[in-house]
Amino acid sequence: MAYAALRSIGAYAPKNILTNEDLAKMVDTSDDWITKRTGIKERRIADKNETTSDMGVKAAQKAIERSGIAKEEIDMVICATISPDYFCMPSTATLISNKLGLQNVTAFDISAACTGFVYILSIAKAFIESGMKKNVLIIGAEKLSAITDYTDRGTCILFGDGAGAAIVGATNDKSEAIIDVHTGADGSFADLLMTPNGGTGSPHDSLEQEAGSCYMQMKGNETFKVAVRTLTKDVEDILAANNIASEQVDHFVPHQANYRIIKAVGDALGMSDAQVVLTVHKYGNTSGASIPMAINDIYEEGKLKAGELLLLDAFGGGLTWGSALVPFSPLR
Ligand code: COA
Repeated sequence: MAYAALRSIGAYAPKNILTNEDLAKMVDTSDDWITKRTGIKERRIADKNETTSDMGVKAAQKAIERSGIAKEEIDMVICATISPDYFCMPSTATLISNKLGLQNVTAFDISAACTGFVYILSIAKAFIESGMKKNVLIIGAEKLSAITDYTDRGTCILFGDGAGAAIVGATNDKSEAIIDVHTGADGSFADLLMTPNGGTGSPHDSLEQEAGSCYMQMKGNETFKVAVRTLTKDVEDILAANNIASEQVDHFVPHQANYRIIKAVGDALGMSDAQVVLTVHKYGNTSGASIPMAINDIYEEGKLKAGELLLLDAFGGGLTWGSALVPFSPLR
């Protein structure tokens, strides 16, 4: 049987920085409030003409270069995004594939908000284990600034832009393999975090009305509580199912939404500060890109070594959630 291994990681963060001080000039907020309530100091914002697929391509190029796998060997591309280049079609994954010059690939997007990267990891794993695909490029890419209302202080302080990518490849060596991925969803919480306008759920009479109406809306306080509960249970379940203790995890990589959520979950799980990967202070919440961007940070800092065990944990709009136990298994 084929197993699926995480071969490489890459990421891209746009150069423009939006600080808390900048936001305090736009809405009634302050650096002090944002820092205390979220841990975020700044986030990256894409250029006006820079698309989600442009960012995805830059992250993917790094992941491909680092993988030691030729791009001709990539047979599937999956992009997790809630801010695609185009509303319905073509998918961002097909645009990324074209810009990378990939041929003979299956390419599609999925929508699972901030859990997107864990979802595409599970899809890549399933395709590889079934023998249908051998090398899958997975990308979480978001231009959240395009769907953020910069007059709403409850949301605009949280979100940023960026992309992360990974190559998941087939192996016969079980010790290299992704151990497990859990995913779940509960649509009864749909109204906690949503873009209520612009789709068939809320059709508009005119394009003018629709333009600019696709902004995110969030019930922040309720989302916070469900996030802590769900993220903690998620990890407890996957560790128990695989008979792995939290001390065996080298890097706990939670979705980077809010430092207080990460701290509460880390404490509940008995994770030490050294185990918990944190990037929320510099990128804010980049939804589907947040986990691969965080893994890339520890990789580029030289903290992620071959064979080390990553524990991923995500939560997002839908509601969706997911966790994964993933050894880092580079080919070189
Ligand atoms: N600056 C200053 N004050 C703000 C503010 C801001 N940016 N946003 C809200 N406030 C005010 C509120 O109006 C409220 O004022 P009041 O007490 O006079 O009514 C007060 O701060 C507390 O608001 P509340 O919403 O209870 O704050 P909070 O501690 O829950 O923090 C969030 C708000 C959004 C930071 C927090 O709820 C959060 O992070 N939620 C989870 C969001 C998330 O992770 N979403 C993505 C999931 S993937």
